[in-house]
Amino acid sequence: MNIVVVGSGYVGLVTGVCFAELGLRVTCMDHDAAKIDRLIMGDIPIYEPGLQNLVLLNQKAGRLSFTTDAAACIGQADAVFIAVGTPTRKGDNHADLQYIFAAARDIAPHLRDYTVIVTKSTVPVGTGRRMASIIRDMNPAAAFDMVSNPEFLREGTAIRDFMRPDRVVVGAETPKAVAVMRRLYEPLTGQDVPLVVTTLETAEMAKYAANAFLAMKITFINQMADLCEVTQANVNDVAKIMGLDQRIGSKFLRAGPGYGGSCFPKDTRALAETARSLGVELGLVRQTMDYNDARKHTMVDRILAAFGGGVAGKTLAILGLTFKPGTDDMRDAASLVIVPALRAAGAHLKLYDPKGMEEAQSCLGDDAGQWCANALDTLSGADGAVLITEWDEFRALSPEAIVRMLRDPVFVDLRNVYDVPAMQAAGVAYTSLGRPVASLVCPSMTRAPAEVL
Ligand code: UGA
Repeated sequence: MNIVVVGSGYVGLVTGVCFAELGLRVTCMDHDAAKIDRLIMGDIPIYEPGLQNLVLLNQKAGRLSFTTDAAACIGQADAVFIAVGTPTRKGDNHADLQYIFAAARDIAPHLRDYTVIVTKSTVPVGTGRRMASIIRDMNPAAAFDMVSNPEFLREGTAIRDFMRPDRVVVGAETPKAVAVMRRLYEPLTGQDVPLVVTTLETAEMAKYAANAFLAMKITFINQMADLCEVTQANVNDVAKIMGLDQRIGSKFLRAGPGYGGSCFPKDTRALAETARSLGVELGLVRQTMDYNDARKHTMVDRILAAFGGGVAGKTLAILGLTFKPGTDDMRDAASLVIVPALRAAGAHLKLYDPKGMEEAQSCLGDDAGQWCANALDTLSGADGAVLITEWDEFRALSPEAIVRMLRDPVFVDLRNVYDVPAMQAAGVAYTSLGRPVASLVCPSMTRAPAEVL
């Protein structure tokens, strides 16, 4: 089968490359000629583990090509996937659908034989039908069906998430469209991946519901961490105990500085606005958004408190800047709030991220601090350190190395990476999230849940 993927951003590129890897002939289309030129040369504009290799392999095998020309590829496609951005619209927090509707208009004149038009982008409920009417108005003779096939790809593990998904969702209106989608995903469903067939509206809603629920789950554990801090309970163990209950599940219960990235912040905003405009108030989603926004600022207060109430004139090592490990993406990263606030408080910063340096420099400004080459270089000679993103390179740091490198061993860990007793035994003045100081911990209590795992 031939497919075209419109939009060669994060989702489009991963989708196109993975379908090519599954044996389909894939054309990735984008208006951005410079991006397409780079991709043709095998130069991938984003960092995603494994992506570059798969692009090169599939280009070489003749299954993957890149173009800016809709006329040259849409007419031959059995299915056209739309994977363009749906950022937050300026001014009102709704999803901005201008790129989605522009893609529908680009495709419409070139449709020839029966084509399935599939929305991968996260779009508010009802958008699929609006796209269908745009296409029908522009090309009344076109034979096509609209399908909603939301993606559940996490940056950093997107290839694995595509190849081994928990489920494939197909929101469709005709058996013919469902049959095309079943054929496309047969290599995955043949390995027992469930494919859920539903309506357009349900598929569109399900994607927002899943993201909002995960955002809420993170917010819940962050709030539990706040409570643990004033009760001497340990949030890591609370999360383990909760997670062992199969009705809850262990994932997305890691306390942190507040979720970021290109999806949870914008999708919770869009879902809440869609609901409000339809007369439904999603209080849980709104509280999640508000708490998460505020949390990034309360992290700054926590850092200032760890340094005795202020950081003026101090040199701080900042470890990790991207919104999570495994990506160079800085969108809605906690560092975008924390770094400027620490500078405003008078700190001199030494900054480092294993993969996000270029992006971080363009978001935070070249003059945000001293840009360092690795973790040890960053720590060396600093008055203290703040870990914002839990890259593996930082997990490998020993408490002894931290004490050796820092002038004053104050360490604020916003991802609970290190062992509290080990840090304290090494003499680090260690602050993490929702975990009691070692002297107050009863060892048998902390060991029990870990042993169960
Ligand atoms: C998210 C969803 O996980 C994907 O299923 C979805 O397809 C994607 O959005 C999307 O809509 O395109 P992503 O934004 O790549 O994926 O990253 P996540 O792994 O979900 O992490 C989001 C944020 O939550 C990060 O800032 C991360 O550090 C934070 N997080 C995650 C926590 O603070 N605690 C956790 O336990 C898990």
